Amino acid sequence: MKAITIAVMGTSWGDEGKGKIVDFLAEDTDIVVRFQGGNNAGHTVVVNNQKFKFHLMPSGVLQNKEVVLGNGVVIDPAVLIEEIDKLKKININPKLIISSTAHVIFPFHKYIDGLEEKTKKGYAAGTTLQGIGPTYSDKYARFGIRMFDLIDKDLLYPKLEKLFELKKKYVECLGFDFPFDKEEIFNKYLDYGKILKPFIKDTALYLNQAIDDGKKIIFEGAQGSLLCIDHGMYPYGTSSNTWAGGICVGTGISPKRIDKIIGIVKAYTSRVGGGPLPTELGSINKYKKDDPIDIKNHTDDEIGHYIRQKGNEYGTTTGRPRRVGWIDLVSIKYSCILNNFDFLVLTLPDVLGGLKEVKMCIQYEYNGTKINHWPIHSEIISKCKPVYITLPGWEDLSREQWHNIALKGFDALPTNLKNYIFKIEEFLKLPIKIISIGPSREDTILRITKEEIWN
Ligand code: GDP
Ligand code: IMO
Ligand code: MG
Repeated sequence: MKAITIAVMGTSWGDEGKGKIVDFLAEDTDIVVRFQGGNNAGHTVVVNNQKFKFHLMPSGVLQNKEVVLGNGVVIDPAVLIEEIDKLKKININPKLIISSTAHVIFPFHKYIDGLEEKTKKGYAAGTTLQGIGPTYSDKYARFGIRMFDLIDKDLLYPKLEKLFELKKKYVECLGFDFPFDKEEIFNKYLDYGKILKPFIKDTALYLNQAIDDGKKIIFEGAQGSLLCIDHGMYPYGTSSNTWAGGICVGTGISPKRIDKIIGIVKAYTSRVGGGPLPTELGSINKYKKDDPIDIKNHTDDEIGHYIRQKGNEYGTTTGRPRRVGWIDLVSIKYSCILNNFDFLVLTLPDVLGGLKEVKMCIQYEYNGTKINHWPIHSEIISKCKPVYITLPGWEDLSREQWHNIALKGFDALPTNLKNYIFKIEEFLKLPIKIISIGPSREDTILRITKEEIWN
């Protein structure tokens, strides 16, 4: 059989619905691979009305596929073990393979994440405080500890000793306490190593062999292309390469072995954390989560609250409201240029149902001039004003009505939503082949056959 590899990437700032789409596509794959990021990700999969939130475990796990954490991922072993245990409780024994060269997150990385955020003030990205940035910093400074080190106490101890001393000095220099016990961490991480040892392998060899053997593979992006450390909105992004370019370094697969790249476009913008957001609708502080929705006057605050509530745009752990806005095609175009997508997936357009009009940002105004490109530098983006086109909205339908539309297919979608889809395709010059109109697997419309996807 011919191998085929497909990458599923977020086009914006994360939470585009990657988990749902990967789970949907995973039915037909053999292996699902995470290649970057860590448990800063939160990927939601809804099956039989049950909601699963994965932070590290690739979303294909519910389809009982092999799941791989590549070398580019940073791993908090406690979080991973908790995810494995939760799955075991529902009788899923993950077929997990972990790269021996993936770097390990320690409790002091999380602590330093918080301290650095405070120190950065206006430049803070509003991180997830999971220690992602500090762990990648240590990786690139070559102080890092890898999964391989956890399974041998004679490797772990001297490396931890060195890292611990460095981090302690650094934190104390910043004027803070370093409330950690080296021996305690050492013993705890050795225990994690014992639990995870059976899963640890050279995943580069494993994945290349799988391709030689004709396997089907999905690469599951985490975060979104515009949060990339190199090509995202620096410094308001994350610390890994979140676009398709990250796959090769994060797995050990040659660029020649990536067959298709699919981009997930959310029907509106959402953003957690700091940095400019040109199409932002209103303030996250104007309404509380349960305040009734009222879009009588169609103010930005009202529409923002409507989208936030209907799309449940609140952090699952903290309850923090996410910033939301109109779809920003200028920024998404940049993602399309980077990733060179084969086709797009549109998610969450059902959330916009009920709005009289919907807007699309197609240009910016910067210093009195219209510009068509994403200016990349946050200092410039903060001064850009969105230029919109306005389209008529579509009905607010019940879950059941959306579900019935999914059963019937593309033609059954509200006409104005179809026009919205055509407009995005026209602007981005890419077809939207999959449309997600609800969180469940079933609420998915294909304009391509599954055979064509995997061909
Ligand atoms: P990810 O990080 O890209 O995997 O996305 P998240 O799971 O963090 O956020 C997407 C949210 O939207 C989750 O709560 C999903 O269950 C939900 N979702 C995904 N697709 C759709 C859709 O088409 N419609 C609706 N209403 N919700 C969706
Ligand atoms: P998924 O995979 C949305 C954001 C944080 C912050 C910045 C840096 O669910 O789409 P970090 O903890 O990575 O150092 O934070 O990146 N961020 C995300 N936003 N979805 C995510 O993941 C994110 N992962 C990180 O809010 O602005
Ligand atoms: Mg998410």
